[in-house]
Order: sequence, then C-alpha cells, then structure tokens
Amino acid sequence: MRERSSFLRNRKSSSQAARLPVDAFSIDRASREPIQQQIYTALRDLILRGVLTPGLKLPSSRELSRNILVSRNTVVRAYEQLNSEGYVETRHGAKTYVANIPPPSSPAVRHDISKMAGRVSRFAHAFDPEKRISFSSDRSALRPSTPDVAVFPFTTWNRLFGRYLLHPNVDLFNYNYDLGYPPLQAAIARYIQAYRGVVCEPEQVVVTNGAQAALDLLSRMLLKDGDVVWMEEPGYVNARLVFSAAGADIEPLNVTEEGWGLQNVPEGNIQLIYTTPSCQHPLGLSMRVEQRLRLLDIANRKAAWIIEDDFDSEYRLFGRSIPAMQGNDKFGLTIYVGTFAKTLFPAIRVGFMVVPQSICEQVKRAALYCGQQVSLPLQATLSDFIMNGHFASHLRRTRRLYAERREAFLKLGHKYLNEWMEPFEADVGIQIAFRFKRPLDDVAIASKANDMKLNVVPLSRYYYREPIRGLLLGYAAIDERAMQSHLALLAEVIKEQTS
Ligand SMILES: Cc1ncc(COP(=O)(O)O)c(C=O)c1O
Repeated sequence: MRERSSFLRNRKSSSQAARLPVDAFSIDRASREPIQQQIYTALRDLILRGVLTPGLKLPSSRELSRNILVSRNTVVRAYEQLNSEGYVETRHGAKTYVANIPPPSSPAVRHDISKMAGRVSRFAHAFDPEKRISFSSDRSALRPSTPDVAVFPFTTWNRLFGRYLLHPNVDLFNYNYDLGYPPLQAAIARYIQAYRGVVCEPEQVVVTNGAQAALDLLSRMLLKDGDVVWMEEPGYVNARLVFSAAGADIEPLNVTEEGWGLQNVPEGNIQLIYTTPSCQHPLGLSMRVEQRLRLLDIANRKAAWIIEDDFDSEYRLFGRSIPAMQGNDKFGLTIYVGTFAKTLFPAIRVGFMVVPQSICEQVKRAALYCGQQVSLPLQATLSDFIMNGHFASHLRRTRRLYAERREAFLKLGHKYLNEWMEPFEADVGIQIAFRFKRPLDDVAIASKANDMKLNVVPLSRYYYREPIRGLLLGYAAIDERAMQSHLALLAEVIKEQTS
C-alpha cells in the first residue's frame, strides 16, 4: 500500500498533515462492519505498520469525511476510539496526531516462539501429549470407563435445571457459597454415608470439577519436590501425571489378582498413597478388608495421606458395592474422592472429595483461589436430582443394564477373543481388563484397532515397570449388536497382527 503513488491529501495543510494511502479507505458500504469501525481499523493498521509515523498530523475530521464521503460524526467517533486506545492524541484544540508508539521489533531480535514454548514450567512439561490416546469422538465403541449417556433421564434433569433458569434465584447467580453449596454437600454426604459407608459431615464435602480437579488440587497441596507417592501399578495414568507434575517420585504398589503388594512397603518416607480399593483401576478388582486395614496401618506408620479414588464402585456385578475404605480409617488420613462421571455422564464435570477435618478449611480455600468451584445452578440441579430420588433410580436402572451388558460382553468376548486373550477375574466397574495369553504387542494392536475407531486401550499403558500386556475394553455404552460387530472387528485386527 505504501508504494502506491496516489494519496489522499489533506487539501488545506498538505505540507504537515498525514498523507494517507488512497486504498486505506476503500470503505465497503455493503459490509456489515460499521463504517466507523472500518475507518478505525484502517488507521490503526497504518499506525501499527509504521506507515503513519509518530507525531504526524492526521487530516481533520471534516476534511477526511469530505474526502471519503462519510458523515463527519462517523470520522469523529473513529478518531475518538483511536484516541481512547492511545493510537493518536489530540493536541492544540482539535488537531489529531499519531501517538508515539514504539516501532515493531526488527525480525532480527524477534524471539523464537518455539523456544519460548519449551520454557514452560516442569508442571506443564509433565502433560506430554504423547501420553494421551486419541479416541474417535463420534461413537463410544469399546472405549473403557464410558457409561451409556443415552439412558440418562435428560427430561427430568432439564426440568430441574429449567426451574432455576425460569425463576432465577439471585443466590445462585452471584458470587456465593465460596466454600461449598450446602444443599449439595448435604445430598452427597447422605448418599456416600448410606451407599458407600463413608463417615463424614456435609462440611467436609468439597465439590470439584470432576475427580481430576480434586486429584490435581490435592497433589499440589500435599506434595513437594522429591516426595514419594506409593501408587497402584497398574494404575490411573491421569492421577500419576498430576503427582509427577507436582514433583513427586512414584513408587509402585503392585496389584495382581492375588491382591495389593503390601508386603513391599518402600523404605523411607512416603507422603501419599493413591489407591482405588473398591474398583481397582484398571483391573476392576476389590481390596479385601484385611488388606484395607493393613494399608491404613502402613499409612499411619509412615505418616502418609491416602487418596481413596472411588470412581466406579457403584457398578458391581453381584451384590452391594463394597463399602469405601474411608469408613475404616480411624486415623483421619484418608481423603475420599468421588465423581459423577460414571453414574451420571462424563461431561457433567462434577466430582467431590471428602477431606479430613484437619485440612478441610485449607483445601476449601485452595479450591476457591484455584478457581475450582462448580457452577452453582448446576450444583443446585444436582442436589435436587439426588434429594428427589432420581439419582437412586438412575443408579438402579443402570446397575441392572450394565450387569446384563457385562454378562453379554464376557460371553461374546469369549466367543471372539478367547484364542488370544482372557479377562481378569473381576466384578466391578464399567470396563474389563483382558490379558493376552501369549506375547503380543498390545500397543500395536490397539493402534490398529483405533484406526478402525474401536477405541481400545493397551493394558501396558497403566504399567511403568513390568507391563502385563492386553487390552482394556468398555462395554457399558453399547448394546449386544454393537458388541458383536466391534468384537468381531477386533478379532480380525488381532488375527492380522499375529499372522
Ligand atoms: C481411576 C479414575 N478416577 C477418576 C476418574 C474420573 O475422573 P473425572 O471425574 O475427572 O472424569 C476416572 C475416569 O475414568 C478414573 O478412571
């Protein structure tokens, strides 16, 4: 633009006033962008590019408006906008000059953005993108840990939610209840006392954006560089990541079908123990009571906190869910973490933790200042959903449905996959871990299967030392027909990989 020879000239005082490239004002009258905005943008860009240099006088609003055939007010408003943002300044009455804006750096001193991106904290580096598996999002297929969203009672939910929107309650639409929304704290406390055997007062319930936010907050609060977390292996990758990001070293607490390897307690200090005793992730096993008591005892001896992640124990194939370990804790060391991701739907992003009284206020304040509060209208809807009995009936219904599907899936799994793999002996949760019967590369198989949108996870992903190879498969979100076709396709993939 600068090279063009034709300029709009300030007629009266062309010697000192800005010469503006004529195409700077190709005002587009058909555009939806207001003319005032077009003038503002054109002048701002000329200033930023250094075409209009500091100190240069701009044409008066009257002259410019005449030249470009727009109303004077429109130009005045554009000049006012430039003035208020600091691109121009008005001096000597009404004269407008280009302000003194530092020129853009020369390319020679421009920083290498990719290097700057590499300079982020170790915390950020911990979340290495390669650790993620990308699932196809247009269907669940065999994706582990996935409930059937289609059976969620959205009509009821929408009615409850709509009530708050139709009759907005100022309480729920302002900065309120910083340290917890009491009706939801009470509803969750009642549920986990009755169904999970958790011992707590409602004030100990801290509602979070999913269980993950609770794990992140706890790891940042309880761990320092070099602290030791004794963590289940195989174990929950997302928990491990936030512990590592907080600077902790991870010691494996091996889990097999024989139980938790509590005989191999790490020497030295342990600051935190992470466990999923009522539905081991990913194997779906549950810890026997004598092991629970022993683990609590070890925590007490080592002065370690325990995070009990109770993410999926509602779905037990036979009988009642096994009560939470927190209920056995006489020492006040267990922080119980729960989520509604499986019992309602994952995208609800509501989880919670039950924090021992000794650190409860500290955790609540940290949640507040880390921006961890959950939307109040959502909390109100969820508390109504629980208190009016809808949560209990949805649980009853999905328990039945998932138990039937689990049985069907195991039968079909045997039919299609028995040649290569067998399920772990487990009866809890909405996913099933299978181990290979002979040495096979689970990462390669999963990768091929996921090219076909099957959404499986290699079992070795959950191990950091000596992996058991196999696949983790979800069954809860699909009916028998879908199971048949997905498992048949998976069998083909494995056959191809092994031939
Ligand atoms: C062990 C474990 N904990 C917690 C969660 C749920 O976390 P969130 O509530 O953040 O979805 C999952 C989800 O799959 C999980 O596998």
